Amino acid sequence: MINSYNKKVLEIFKNPMNMGEMKNADGVGKVGNPRCGDVMYIYIRVSKNKKGEEIIKDIKFQTLGCPAAIATSSMMTELAKGKKIEDALKITNKDVADALGKLPPIKMHCSNLAADALKKAVDNYQGKFTKDNECVRCCSGGSNS
Ligand code: FES
Repeated sequence: MINSYNKKVLEIFKNPMNMGEMKNADGVGKVGNPRCGDVMYIYIRVSKNKKGEEIIKDIKFQTLGCPAAIATSSMMTELAKGKKIEDALKITNKDVADALGKLPPIKMHCSNLAADALKKAVDNYQGKFTKDNECVRCCSGGSNS
């Protein structure tokens, strides 16, 4: 399988950018891939630009997964870094896969994690979900009304 990855995917897999845990992140998003059991965490640090708009100042990932999952995590963090939150949320899983060139068809499901994890991290930052992805209204003892 490793031979069917393109050069770009393999290079990023070997030298991923923005990998690791972020202490005291402003938002944490966790997603799992039900097909293989792999797990991805995205950590974001939020700041404001000169116009007072919220931007993703820093972003990191931790992925327990295959080379495609690690490469897509890394690419997504590069695409999102420095962007306004509203623009970062427009990044799709397809954008991430396209930026990597081509993924083997059997690995396309692996690219479905990264953008979803970023959305979860923003949800956590905005107080809609806990860092374990529990809805603060119904899963964490919050009001369900
Ligand atoms: Fe699990 Fe790729 S095989 S994310």
